Amino acid sequence: MFLAHLLRQAGVEAVVLEMRSRDYVEGRVRAGVLEQHTVRLMHRLGIGDRVAREGLVHAGTTLCVDGEPFHVNFSDLTDGGAVTVYGQSEVMKDLNVAADRRGIEVIYEAADVTPHNLDSHAPVVTWKTRGEPQRLECDFVVGCDGYHGVCRASIPADHVKTFERIYPFGWLGILADVPPCNHELIYANHPHGFALASMRSPTRSRCYLQCSLGDRVEEWSDQRFWDEFTVRIGAQYSARVTRGPSFEKSIAPLRSFVCTTMRWGRLFLAGDAAHIVPPTGAKGLNLAVADVVVLGDALAAWYGAGDDRGLETYARRALDRIWKAERFSWWLTNLTHRFPDMDVFDRHMQIAEFAYLRESRAAQTSFAENYVGLPLDF
Ligand code: PHB
Repeated sequence: MFLAHLLRQAGVEAVVLEMRSRDYVEGRVRAGVLEQHTVRLMHRLGIGDRVAREGLVHAGTTLCVDGEPFHVNFSDLTDGGAVTVYGQSEVMKDLNVAADRRGIEVIYEAADVTPHNLDSHAPVVTWKTRGEPQRLECDFVVGCDGYHGVCRASIPADHVKTFERIYPFGWLGILADVPPCNHELIYANHPHGFALASMRSPTRSRCYLQCSLGDRVEEWSDQRFWDEFTVRIGAQYSARVTRGPSFEKSIAPLRSFVCTTMRWGRLFLAGDAAHIVPPTGAKGLNLAVADVVVLGDALAAWYGAGDDRGLETYARRALDRIWKAERFSWWLTNLTHRFPDMDVFDRHMQIAEFAYLRESRAAQTSFAENYVGLPLDF
């Protein structure tokens, strides 16, 4: 949807095909932390009013090791940098309302979407709407269809290059209408495992626990969740945890994944279709936005001046930033989680890394500049 708006601004026609319903897209619980570039783009696209009013600007975060918290101030370390807490579902509503107003065509509940002739100059996409076959001839196909989508799978297997790391744990997440235990996020490394105190608003908490890959949601009653959360988040914050019934509870596996084949003929991949980060550090949504900023420019140059240099270099330029976000998310996951196969040496490495981060302004600056978002020109 960000790309559709960017193309509209450049006067390029685009049609968005969405497998799900609009309600599903606007309701599903996903990311919640926007880099400053993502917020800046929302303003540039004329959809920034609500995030400016309702988004919670966080100028820092707390890291907590074995119950001992320390604060990292992003703004001091990055010349005023910050992140904004604003749910992906809210971003989707803002994008969709503006799409209605601008007449951007979005086809919901498109079934059996299939791209064809991607290595020709005239690709075609077919799908079904309420059982009726549909067909669209286009110049380009952009696969923004996620890790399980059809687009990456359409590239001949012998041309696809991928890199992957699977982590030996998952995240159990809940949403509850209770005030957060702190005004900013807390990332906690505790002997029982990782915990994260996040939020969606001053009255809605989003909290996570590292869990075993075999755990099932039914095994985690709200009582068990809150009991464990208050232990892991540390004594200083546990007294401020307000318990309440969860209205969303799910377990997600953690994975790092990069498909470096981000272009195949007239197909371009963006976002989760090309790369996955573990959620630690909240880079997933922001990275997808960064991809389409680069791609939107490249497509505008192709349509405007017939200049294909941007399209030729898209994968390289996008990957340059993607690998850095992969590194940051992998690093923060390694730092904050208890790995089942960790030995005493590994644990000492974590303790030393936390000590260095606590004491060194240089180390904190590295953390902060990655967290608020590495440079993105637009
Ligand atoms: C979230 O609020 O969903 C969230 C926040 C920070 C993270 C990951 C997830 O690092």
